Amino acid sequence: MMTDEQKTLQWGGEALHIYRDEIADAWIIIAVHSTRRGPSAGGIRMKQYNGLQEAIADVMKLSAAMTMKFATVNMSWGGGKTVVYLTRPLDVASREALLLRLGLHIKNLCGQYYAGPDIGTSSEDMDVLHGVAAPYIFSRTPATGGSGSSSIPTAYGVFAAIQATCRQIFGEADVSGKSILIQGMGNVGRFLAQLLHEAGASILFSETNPALVAELSETTDYRWVAPENLFDTPCDIFSPCAQGGILDHSTISKLRCRGIAGAANNQLYHPERDGELLRERNILYAPDFVANLGGAMGITLMEAEGMEYETAMLRVQTAIGTALDGIFLLAGELKIDTVDAAERWVTKL
Ligand code: PHE
Repeated sequence: MMTDEQKTLQWGGEALHIYRDEIADAWIIIAVHSTRRGPSAGGIRMKQYNGLQEAIADVMKLSAAMTMKFATVNMSWGGGKTVVYLTRPLDVASREALLLRLGLHIKNLCGQYYAGPDIGTSSEDMDVLHGVAAPYIFSRTPATGGSGSSSIPTAYGVFAAIQATCRQIFGEADVSGKSILIQGMGNVGRFLAQLLHEAGASILFSETNPALVAELSETTDYRWVAPENLFDTPCDIFSPCAQGGILDHSTISKLRCRGIAGAANNQLYHPERDGELLRERNILYAPDFVANLGGAMGITLMEAEGMEYETAMLRVQTAIGTALDGIFLLAGELKIDTVDAAERWVTKL
């Protein structure tokens, strides 16, 4: 097993810009993983970490995943990401001031990196950033001329990934009558549940915010699964839509699903090993960077290439479905796990 130090040295990215923000007692880290295909792009993750090392490791992994997403669909963008590591919660005014200082750092990179939202940031935050870092900001609110939250195209893409996974396992893409367990009813999870429900699937969900659990239990017929039962609840498809790193040796051994396709980034704790563990358990894994590339793809199609909303959503779904069909085929043919297959599928492009 590789140590964190070895993983860091194996990153393969181009630049890490680390800024200390004294006023907010925060760190801003912008990772430019690749500009080989075009400028780097990726969201801004803002949260509290257990130290700078953890924040740096996260931004490195997340930016590498962005490179894989754009390469999978052959787009002329590279991978980038920002982590804003907060050491304490900020009030509204200090948070906005911090965003403006982050905007200046983005502006100073002169187009090597384009930012969008991610966990902890919103389209409203992109409006604020745009004030100082135009034109390097994606996913602003529609009121200011942006195409809004990237959660919607992300959810459309995960929906297509679930269909492709069902096609491979059950012989048909139709999700009606299938049970889908969604971990995390945040912006993506909720919209995904709605799409699946409309298509006739039965929804199980796990969510740690009690107010949201209460609301969903009252207004929908989704079935709540307690966090301690998350991994061993029987279902057709498990869809991780919360934080990363949830699949490892111990959780994989508990799973009672046939396939996995979800929106979370970096779902496998040890990507070099866990894909194979899933294969051994005969669980079909839609690699995360394929299943969740719809946000980045949809937003860049609409905002950088001027594509209409409906066309972009269709493109996202077709691209993800086609990529997964190819990856599953390759994995079966070469008897390798789907993560390995996805990496080979991407590099052949
Ligand atoms: N949060 C998106 C992701 O992880 C990143 C993104 C959003 C990139 C919007 C571009 C535009 O894929």
